[in-house]
Amino acid sequence: MMPDMQSYVRAVEECAEFIRSKIPTRPTVALIAGSGQGGLANLVEKETELPYHAIPHFPVGTIRGHRGALIIGRAGEKTVAILSGRWHLYEGIESWNLVLPIRVLAMLGVKVMIVTNSAGGLHPDLIPGDIMLITDHLNFTFRNPLIGPNLDRWGPQFPDMSSPYSRDLQNLARQSAVEERIPLKEGVYVANLGPSYETHAEVHLLRLAGAHAVGMSTVPEVLAAVHAGMKTLGFSIITNSLVRREAPLTHEEVLATAKQAEQKLSALIRPILRLL
Ligand code: HPA
Repeated sequence: MMPDMQSYVRAVEECAEFIRSKIPTRPTVALIAGSGQGGLANLVEKETELPYHAIPHFPVGTIRGHRGALIIGRAGEKTVAILSGRWHLYEGIESWNLVLPIRVLAMLGVKVMIVTNSAGGLHPDLIPGDIMLITDHLNFTFRNPLIGPNLDRWGPQFPDMSSPYSRDLQNLARQSAVEERIPLKEGVYVANLGPSYETHAEVHLLRLAGAHAVGMSTVPEVLAAVHAGMKTLGFSIITNSLVRREAPLTHEEVLATAKQAEQKLSALIRPILRLL
C-alpha cells in the first residue's frame, strides 16, 4: 500500500539528505544500469559507493546479476550518479516505491537520466548483441508510478509524453555511434510486467502494437523522470530474438549476452557524457 503522501515525501527528503551528506559534489546526470551491465560503473571515476541496503528508504532488490549500489563519480566536468542494479515490478515492488530513487535523484539536482536495459528483439532485424536506441515506449505493465496524490513542486499531474526520450539526446547518441563506429539500431521499447517471458501469441500482439523490443523495466523510471522534468535517453541491449527462437530462453542467456555487449554500450555512452 502506498504510504500517505507526507510520509512518502519525508522518505524522499531523508534519503536525499543522507546521500548529500556522503558526497562531495551533486550529480547532474544519472545512469541506470540494467541486468549484467554493472561494468558501466567504469564510465566514472568513482568517488562514493553506497550499497542500496545502506541508504535509508531505498528499495532492496532481489535479482541475480544486480549489484545494488549507488555509485557517484566524475566523468570529466560532470558528477554522475549510477544506479548499478535496478528494481523491477515483478519483484513485487510497487511502482511508487520503485521510482523513489528517481525522485531522490531529482531532488539532488539530476537533470539528465540515461537508462539501459536488456530486451528481447521483436523485429527480425534485431539480433542478440545489438544495441537499440529507444525512440519511444509502450507501457504494457499497466501500472503507473504517478498514480496517487500529485505534488506540484515535483511535476505536473498530467505530464506530456509526446517525447519521453529527448530528441536532442537521441541525436547525441547517433553522433556518438558514428564517431565510435558502433552500429546503433532504433525502435520502440515495450515494458511487460514479467517475470515470465513472452508466449508466441504475445510476441505477435506486441509486434502488431508497434514494438521492436520487449523488456520488463525502464518505463516506470522514465515516467517518473519525465514527470520530474528530466531529459531521458534509453538503450536496450538485445539479448535474444523472439522471432527466431531456437531454444528455451533463460535468464542466464540474457545476462551472458548483456555482459558481452556491455563494452560496446560503454563506448557509446562515454562520449555522450562528455557532449552533454
Ligand atoms: N522478454 C522480456 N524481457 C526480456 C527479454 C525478453 O525476451 N530478454 C531480456 N529481457
